[in-house]
Amino acid sequence: MHILIVGTGYVGLVTGACFAEMGHTVTCLDIDENKILQLQQGKVPIFEPGLNELVKRNLEQKRLRFTTNYQQAVESSIVCFIAVPTPSKSDGSCDISFVETAARHVAKYMNGYKIIVNKSTVPVGTANRVAEVIREERGNSVLFDVVSNPEFLKEGAAVQDCLKPDRILIGSSSQKAIDIMKEIYAPFTLNHDRLLVMDTLSAEMTKYAANAMLALRISFMNEIAEVCKKVGANVNEIRKGIGSDSRIGYSFLYPGVGYGGSCFPKDVRALIAVAKNVGCDPLILQATDEVNEKQKQMMGKKILGYFASRGGVKNKTIGIWGLSFKPDTDDMREAPSLVLIEALLEAGAHLRLFDPVSIPKAKTLLKNSPHITWCESEFQAAQGSDAIALLTEWKQFRLVDFQLVKKEMKGIAFFDGRNQYKPLDMKEKGFDYISIGVPDQLQTSKWP
Ligand SMILES: NC(=O)c1ccc[n+]([C@@H]2O[C@H](COP(=O)([O-])OP(=O)(O)OC[C@H]3O[C@@H](n4cnc5c(N)ncnc54)[C@H](O)[C@@H]3O)[C@@H](O)[C@H]2O)c1
Repeated sequence: MHILIVGTGYVGLVTGACFAEMGHTVTCLDIDENKILQLQQGKVPIFEPGLNELVKRNLEQKRLRFTTNYQQAVESSIVCFIAVPTPSKSDGSCDISFVETAARHVAKYMNGYKIIVNKSTVPVGTANRVAEVIREERGNSVLFDVVSNPEFLKEGAAVQDCLKPDRILIGSSSQKAIDIMKEIYAPFTLNHDRLLVMDTLSAEMTKYAANAMLALRISFMNEIAEVCKKVGANVNEIRKGIGSDSRIGYSFLYPGVGYGGSCFPKDVRALIAVAKNVGCDPLILQATDEVNEKQKQMMGKKILGYFASRGGVKNKTIGIWGLSFKPDTDDMREAPSLVLIEALLEAGAHLRLFDPVSIPKAKTLLKNSPHITWCESEFQAAQGSDAIALLTEWKQFRLVDFQLVKKEMKGIAFFDGRNQYKPLDMKEKGFDYISIGVPDQLQTSKWP
């Protein structure tokens, strides 16, 4: 099948490469000429495990191509997926203008029946709006269907998620479109049927509900962690205790420094806006967002609190391990590290920053500052540091030579934003170890 993917970002590029891998002929289109130029040469502009090989192989075998030319791309494809950004507006609602613009461009060059597929995460009713945009552009001169096919891949495991999806949602009331979509996804469902067919409104709502539920679990655990710390309980035990209940399960029960990334924060806010727009009072969704905002500030407050009785954080050196919003990705969008870095710079600290892959992206987001040193390893980030803060649980931080780390450091404070280590072990190694939701007596005797 000839497929067009409009928008060659985390979702579009991964989806396009996976469709090509399954034997489809795929054109990936983007308005970013530089990105397309790089991709045409087999250079993948994002970090995603397994993606480089997939792109290279399918490019070489000519099942995958990259272009900025809408006309050629639309004319040669039957199905046009739209995977462009849907950022938050200033009031939190979802800006679907990128989707509308992409749909308008596709409409312009439609030369026969086409299926336009919304893969971007969009508010309920957007499939209808896309159909309206196409009619505005072309009147009744073209035959088409608009399908909602939200994406559930996780950055960091996007290729695997795309090749082996838990489920594939198809929102449509057109049997012709449903049959073609089933054909596209047939290679992904050989093992067992993973297709869920429903109306477009329900498909659009399912995506938001799924992300809101996951974000809710994280905020819930962050709130429980705060209570744990105050009452002397250990949130790490609570996580195991409740996760073992099959009705709850273990996933997404880790307390931390707050959720970030390009999806959860904006999608929760967009769903709040959708709910309010129809006269609902989304109390749980609002609390999810508020708890997360508070959680992102928490690490900065802990560090400032620790140094308050040690001469203040001004001119102290803090090493930060991990910048991306989660491991195995270079995505820095809404990363909690950005909030911490801003707070510490404002307080006059010097920062030594290390991340295995996201430093180039972090450099574009952070203003050049004489108080930032970019480091090439966790040990370099530790050099001369009064404290270390771990923000992203990259695997390479799991088994670290802490004797070496301590030798490099000036101070002994270790702030663990992902509860990666055993408090008593860290205490024995000589650290003032401060993690999330663990009472002070279990972490350090020196905590004020
Ligand atoms: N990133 C994720 O993990 C993830 C997961 C599921 C769903 N989503 C959703 O998928 C959508 C895309 O997200 P992303 O992370 O891939 O975004 P992204 O920012 O990585 O990529 C989007 C791409 O679209 C391009 N673009 C913008 N306007 C265009 C146009 N008119 N024509 C052609 N290209 C255009 C941009 O240049 C960019 O390369 C969003 O709605 C997002 O919420 C993202």
